[in-house]
Amino acid sequence: MNKFLSLTLLWSAALATQTFAQRKTIEQRVDSVMKLMTLTEKIGQLNQYSGREVTGPASDRKNYLLNDIKNGMVGSMLNVKGVKDTREIQAIALQSRLKIPLLFSLDVIHGYKTVFPIPLAESASWDLSIIRRSAEVAAEESAASGIHWTFAPMVDIARDPRWGRVMEGAGEDTYLGSQIAKARVLGFQGEKLGALDRIMACAKHFAAYGASMAGRDYNPVDLSKQQLHEIYLPPFKAAADAGVATFMNSFNTLNGIPATGNAYLQRDILKGKWNYKGFVVSDWGSIGEMIPWGFAKNLSEASEKAIVAGSDMDMESEAYKKELEKLVKSGKVEEKYIDEAVKRILYKKFELGLFDNPYRFSDEKREQKVMSDPKYKAVALAAAQKSIVLLKNNNNTLPLNKSIKNLALIGPLVNAKRDQAGNWTVYIDTANMVSVHEGVKQKIKGAKLTYAQGTTVKDTLTNGFAEAVNAARNADAVVMVLGETWDFSGEAKSRSDISLPGKQEELFKAVKATGKPVIVVLMAGRPLVFNAIAAQADAVIYAWFLGDQGGNAIADVLFGDYNPSGKLPISFPKNVGQIPIFYSHYNTGRPVTKAGDIRYKSAYIDVSNDPQYAFGHGLSYTTFSYSNLKLSSNAINQKENVKVSFTLTNTGKVEGEEVAQLYIQDTFASVVRPVKELKDFTKVKLKPGESKEISFELSPEKLAFYHEEKGWITEAGEFKVMVGTASNDIKLKSSFELK
Ligand code: GLC
Repeated sequence: MNKFLSLTLLWSAALATQTFAQRKTIEQRVDSVMKLMTLTEKIGQLNQYSGREVTGPASDRKNYLLNDIKNGMVGSMLNVKGVKDTREIQAIALQSRLKIPLLFSLDVIHGYKTVFPIPLAESASWDLSIIRRSAEVAAEESAASGIHWTFAPMVDIARDPRWGRVMEGAGEDTYLGSQIAKARVLGFQGEKLGALDRIMACAKHFAAYGASMAGRDYNPVDLSKQQLHEIYLPPFKAAADAGVATFMNSFNTLNGIPATGNAYLQRDILKGKWNYKGFVVSDWGSIGEMIPWGFAKNLSEASEKAIVAGSDMDMESEAYKKELEKLVKSGKVEEKYIDEAVKRILYKKFELGLFDNPYRFSDEKREQKVMSDPKYKAVALAAAQKSIVLLKNNNNTLPLNKSIKNLALIGPLVNAKRDQAGNWTVYIDTANMVSVHEGVKQKIKGAKLTYAQGTTVKDTLTNGFAEAVNAARNADAVVMVLGETWDFSGEAKSRSDISLPGKQEELFKAVKATGKPVIVVLMAGRPLVFNAIAAQADAVIYAWFLGDQGGNAIADVLFGDYNPSGKLPISFPKNVGQIPIFYSHYNTGRPVTKAGDIRYKSAYIDVSNDPQYAFGHGLSYTTFSYSNLKLSSNAINQKENVKVSFTLTNTGKVEGEEVAQLYIQDTFASVVRPVKELKDFTKVKLKPGESKEISFELSPEKLAFYHEEKGWITEAGEFKVMVGTASNDIKLKSSFELK
């Protein structure tokens, strides 16, 4: 063997042992700490308290918590933020016998100090790079403020907009949700844990919380294994494959068993089949909640069921702290369950470097530097722009001309700032936020702007209508900003009626009656029902809650400085009675094949089956053509890919971004298949007249479906291929045979 080759072999062997030794080091270091720990101290690591009582206003729990921390009875704190407070609390933890550092965690859901669009809004961008960058910025700011761990991304597939938490996720689709889960995990964590500007992420809520019955929060979930595996679990698997450091379980039951005590989810699937090595934190108090669920008689039984089922850390129910030692000493619970949970938690503390330097994330100078860095504003603006969805634009009402002389701004959310932050925000610094009013004023300095609130979101006043109608009459055009306030969505914010709150749609009709062009900007944390606006407005922009830069982003779209490119990540129903409504529905044995022909068909007698706006819908100020569809083969075996390629052309007059979507339909199978399923997408920017060859790969894995008995399988047969600009706007079709 020549000298060079032997040296290379030696070097790579040394590297391998070094990496192996390095990995072994963490495992060894964990074992060495475990050997020193008493049972009490091990249980302490499984206990997580909220910090509001410790760093917020004094409360009766303050000393109690500090005492537990000092005695090594706390493994993690949530809701402690900032270098000062995290250093102070960490110093108390280091007074304990073994000086095991705390993990500091927080709900950094869509930004820390810089507030980004709510996750559902960002998902409407279909832009994985901006979604990842937004999570990176959140990590950079929170890591500089002493935070080690965020309880995000929320990856619950949700098809019921009555559920307030739909705002936290990526919408209705498994493929889009899985891609976004991966982007967010990598944004928060980076490629490897331990960097000073990255934090641990947490895939939540495991599992199927988005299917809560009737869209009511904390309600039961009943799902077939087939639907659970095919629709709700893949985003969690994508997060696990991306290396997500932790999971959080959920408040719901799954087929009668609370997720927190559900061994099928946490042991069989997560830690078993998926061989997951991170740790699981319970959701807030969910261990104790197994008592009111009627699944545990008392806290002792709840603790036993939770630890045996794989819930490693107990958030805020104090069950483990109060009950586990007794359960182990009585022989009811084997100590191995405690040891397994402690090892998983200590492993992460070592990976973050906290044993080497417990204060490495708590550096005052770094905090000041990062928190005052203006560079993040540009990222927030880009994310906000890309998240806006242009739902309607009759006769090219938009973009408005910047030379407009007189513009009326009407509605209760024209001056909204706090509302634009949405729910689940860490910092509310309205000085940092830009309202629509401010954004428009900044954009068209020469115009006369007339503002009229018209009505409010939370009451039914109409005494402001006259002023609003008058403002409209004297204007060249009207921009109305309507919708929900920030607190209509989020946790425990389910709505049985998802129409515009209050008298907002009546205000719209009064203003529209003036005959002026009316553009409606809607802010909300969920799809709303607004049929009159959808029918009569000249243009409709869905602005969700866009964060700090919302007003600037909306003004950019209104006046054409940004060509809207967002696409809906969730279907918009015509009325709440259609829910659950989603594009990847099933054909049924009696499909409606001709509009209006519903005799003995699967249909309603009072509304069509179609949504108001479909999954994937979103308009642009330019137009795109799809042509030249080619498949690499019209017949493949179960190990081959099919390459789908086509030409996309910007056929309009302005540059724009298009989200081209690839759908398939498995036409016949041993389990009925949806009429279409998203299997790939790409977001492409094209200049006027520019064309681009686009190709997608359809792997056998993308053709698979979940079978109750056989698991994930593919079956021979015909597959339809559809390429389009929305789930209900397919431009190119073909098919191939899977042999
Ligand atoms: C909550 C939420 C969860 C959040 C946790 C900590 O109740 O369900 O998403 O991360 O408490 O705030």
